[in-house]
Amino acid sequence: MIAVTVIDREGKKHEFEAPTDMGLNLMELCRINELPIKGTCGGMALCASCHVYVQSDHTLPEQSDSELDMLDQAFFVEPNSRLSCQIRLTDALNGLTVQLAPDDAEE
Ligand code: FES
Repeated sequence: MIAVTVIDREGKKHEFEAPTDMGLNLMELCRINELPIKGTCGGMALCASCHVYVQSDHTLPEQSDSELDMLDQAFFVEPNSRLSCQIRLTDALNGLTVQLAPDDAEE
């Protein structure tokens, strides 16, 4: 298990214990814990509705071309923006802290 902190859009911190042996990604962890993250494309790097800002200085898996393309089209992108569905939870990410990006209000 690893510790993961997710800060919601109101600035509230949510601390989770996450298993690393289930192949879960960060978007799925947020959804399981009922945080307001849509994950519309189901984790295919095709929607950017799982956009987060990484606040801790962990070395994350490299961004795929599809993630970079999606972030190119997303709103409110910052240098620490990532698609949380592309971040697989592994032991190396113990202590990871991310913040949910603003909703792009596309509903
Ligand atoms: S869930 Fe669609 S890009 Fe992550």
